[in-house]
Amino acid sequence: MRAVFVFLAVFVSHAAARYTADWTSLDARPLPSWYNEAKLGIFIHWGVFSVPGFDSEWFWWHWQGQQPPNKTCVDYMSKNYPPGFSYPEFASQFHAQFFDPEEWADIFNASGAKYVVLTAKHHEGFTNWGSPNSWNWNSVDTGPHRDLVGDLGEAVRSRSLHYGLYNSLYEWFHPLYLIDKKNGFKTQEFVMHKLLPELYNMVVRYKPEVIWSDGDWEAPDTYWNSTEFLAWLYNDSPVRDTVVTNDRWGAGCACKHGGYYNCEDKYTPGQLPKHKWEKCTSMDTLSWGYRRKMKLSELMPLSNIIADLVETVALGGNYLLNVGPTSDGTIPTVFEEGLRGLGAWLEINGQAIYASKPWRVQSENNTIQVWYTSKGTTVYAIMTAKPFKPTVQLLEPKTSVNTTVTLLGNSKPLSWSPLSPSAGLIVLLPELPYTPGHAWTLKLDGIQ
Ligand SMILES: *[C@@H]1O[C@H](CO)[C@@H](O)[C@H](O)[C@H]1NC(C)=O
Ligand SMILES: *[C@@H]1O[C@H](CO)[C@@H](O)[C@H](O)[C@H]1NC(C)=O
Ligand SMILES: *[C@@H]1O[C@H](CO)[C@@H](O)[C@H](O)[C@H]1NC(C)=O
Ligand SMILES: *[C@@H]1O[C@H](CO)[C@@H](O)[C@H](O)[C@H]1NC(C)=O
Ligand SMILES: *[C@@H]1O[C@H](CO)[C@@H](O)[C@H](O)[C@H]1NC(C)=O
Repeated sequence: MRAVFVFLAVFVSHAAARYTADWTSLDARPLPSWYNEAKLGIFIHWGVFSVPGFDSEWFWWHWQGQQPPNKTCVDYMSKNYPPGFSYPEFASQFHAQFFDPEEWADIFNASGAKYVVLTAKHHEGFTNWGSPNSWNWNSVDTGPHRDLVGDLGEAVRSRSLHYGLYNSLYEWFHPLYLIDKKNGFKTQEFVMHKLLPELYNMVVRYKPEVIWSDGDWEAPDTYWNSTEFLAWLYNDSPVRDTVVTNDRWGAGCACKHGGYYNCEDKYTPGQLPKHKWEKCTSMDTLSWGYRRKMKLSELMPLSNIIADLVETVALGGNYLLNVGPTSDGTIPTVFEEGLRGLGAWLEINGQAIYASKPWRVQSENNTIQVWYTSKGTTVYAIMTAKPFKPTVQLLEPKTSVNTTVTLLGNSKPLSWSPLSPSAGLIVLLPELPYTPGHAWTLKLDGIQ
């Protein structure tokens, strides 16, 4: 009897875990827990667009796609390249000759990130791996002559970081895509003969634990066969137990369907959302791909990055921070400096970030802006500015006789006193240590 029961339980739990190709079923899948605990990821935009390193990763479109084209881009090309020079000719100059995946992975690990997401294919259609469906427009046949996706994946995973891949559904100039578009997306030539074979192959080959889908917005999810793909991904793919995806699976899906929600690029909700989300943003505020003209004033300072991360985590999100490597395969040192600075801050303050949960209250702004996170019964109050006086008032925590307050990175308990019998406390701060991150964490125990 018992054996039968166990058998049935196993059978039922397996049966229950199969998803059907519709949003009701797919949206009900619990997000694998590693993702919510990870909090911080690194996003990498790398491709043929890194060669011109001009305008942004949208350069091809701005130059030759959109109507009217961007004059700055048109003028740049006519001034600096021979007449008739075409965008695909940039591919042979994508050398990646200094690409050392071990070095990249060391930098990403030193940033404190727990996952890395590389553009396997951006809207230009060039794949950073030897896709058999992208003949002569991939990093093995041309340019670097190297499996960039595979090589980075090995280095990243050997440091126990999770590895994810960005994949653009649409390709601006793919002839089959253009046919489908002309047909009002009533035909699926591109999806059946290019997109899906390539996407299934990519998952089987590289076993990405994040599929960061993009380029979905011109057509409905039924055109992309998104629900069929996701049902396979969740039921039968080699990453079915650990993979997470975002919400860009067709026009109208963003913020509504899929795994976690990105909503828009750089989106931040005003208050605690009900659904797991991720803020993706870029150190270079003007581009995701490398820009040779970038100026220091156009980059996010470390203190802004940390304040942004803290706000995101307090509001239940993950933070995906982008860097654009050069076509030579180097990470600009200014990005490396930022990433290492972030890691140095997390070395001390990480316990308030990783695997934390939003608290009863997400923020308050009495003495200074404070963001709250929690872990078990511990509450963290992260100050993203330095108080003018050596004290800080927190109005939200309810203290008890057992309340203790410490500053992360400083072992001595801090003196505090209640503000009123019902709630709030005033904490006497020690000299706040210098940190390029410009944020400090108070650890509160024995409060409610
Ligand atoms: C054209 O591209 C340049 C270079 O990226 C950019 O600064 C400018 O804002 C763009 N112009 C328009 C009208 O979008
Ligand atoms: C990864 O970074 C952590 C600190 O964030 C460090 O303790 C660890 O040694 C690093 N691992 C490798 C393989 O470099
Ligand atoms: C695409 O979706 C259609 C309709 O649900 C289905 O018949 C077909 O098998 C799917 N193809 C793939 C490759 O997923
Ligand atoms: C917090 O308060 C300060 C001082 O009143 C103000 O300058 C700042 O904009 C406030 N921050 C937020 C996020 O409301
Ligand atoms: C204080 O801690 C003691 C010992 O852990 C516990 O028994 C007591 O209930 C706590 N009091 C409050 C108000 O939390």
